[in-house]
Amino acid sequence: MSDLRARIVWHEEPSAAQLAADLADTVAARLSEAIERSGSATIAVSGGTTPKLFFQALSRTAIDWRNVTVTLVDERFVDGASPRSNARLVRENFLRNRAAAARFEPLYRARESIADAACEASLVLARLAWPLDVVILGMGTDGHTASFFPDAADLDAILDPDAPGIVRVVEAPSAGEPRLTLTMPHLISARFMALHIEGAAKRSLIDAVLDGTATPPIAGVLEHAATRPEIYWAP
Ligand code: 6PG
Repeated sequence: MSDLRARIVWHEEPSAAQLAADLADTVAARLSEAIERSGSATIAVSGGTTPKLFFQALSRTAIDWRNVTVTLVDERFVDGASPRSNARLVRENFLRNRAAAARFEPLYRARESIADAACEASLVLARLAWPLDVVILGMGTDGHTASFFPDAADLDAILDPDAPGIVRVVEAPSAGEPRLTLTMPHLISARFMALHIEGAAKRSLIDAVLDGTATPPIAGVLEHAATRPEIYWAP
């Protein structure tokens, strides 16, 4: 068994709904533990299509959401009204029901440039208690996670476990819009990291990553994670 495969904790459910419920229960327990321990909890979530059922399940869990701060793993450089906005996805699916009481710190800021927006988001997020208690990652079929796209020109710097800053800009041909993303150190230091993926294509890619025969960006994130990453997969 490869080192990485031995390192991760694998969770599998027969359906996306059951996987979402399983992950939501685990995340709610982790957030509650953090509140118990320190009086507050922090979670960074990813966008895309996979998290919707998970957000809806998590939004209904009975934890003390008033003491939870939610932020994003990454964001497209679009305003909150855009259908491409991860902040909009979170507001419409996660910050509802009981979770409506949580504090939300989005990454997008309406500034002249994306560099200015990254700078402002970094200043705001610097006030959070780091490391994050929970990070929920997704993965593209190209092996990107967060906005760490394989075709980003400065991918080595992006994946550097000692990269500077809290929020950085990523531009890559495959990313669609320019992106804002938490930096590698601020993701891998999380007390709990889950990768939430579905489908056969992502299963075969993550198997290749765990066997060491593919090394897309997600591989470096899993390898450098401070805790054992937990992978949640359904067909
Ligand atoms: C984003 C996400 C990104 C996402 C993957 C998987 O802004 O798109 O943060 O990293 O997790 O692209 O997206 P799907 O869940 O849509 O496959």
